[in-house]
Amino acid sequence: NVLFVCLGNICRSPMAEYIFRDMVKKRGLDGKVRCASAAVSSEEIGNPVYPPAKRKLLTLGIRCEDKRARQLNRKDYAEYDLLIGMENRHLNSMRRLYNGDPDGKISLLLDHCGRTGQEVADPWYTDNFDETWDDVLQGCTALLKELRKAL
Ligand code: 4NP
Repeated sequence: NVLFVCLGNICRSPMAEYIFRDMVKKRGLDGKVRCASAAVSSEEIGNPVYPPAKRKLLTLGIRCEDKRARQLNRKDYAEYDLLIGMENRHLNSMRRLYNGDPDGKISLLLDHCGRTGQEVADPWYTDNFDETWDDVLQGCTALLKELRKAL
């Protein structure tokens, strides 16, 4: 059970959630691997996926109309096996909420594709959703490979 985490839960983590779920389904692993996404901030709670991120998903035929941003809560740490942030500051927020990371569940998405310590590009100020898309795709592809080995 995987939780993708970013600042607002309207761009990066929903892109990861929906791409990853699509990959899981195509591999016939739905039922074995589940995922969701959440925000560290309360800023965008209840809001739908930001239109450029939604358009990126649609290029793969992936629809995300039902998604609404939600904030990370204290129960999520027990609920999920992996809590995957996009940037170091998301990891710091999670570690504050969860008194560190007692079970070693927290990582950066790009740690999973050999880009250890690197952060997914933030499209918010640059409007560059292509770069974000490439990072998310790389991270999610590698993550699925890793999980398939473990299943
Ligand atoms: P996200 O993008 O964290 O990828 O969902 C952002 C959403 C909102 C803001 C920044 C980034 N904001 O500053 O409100």
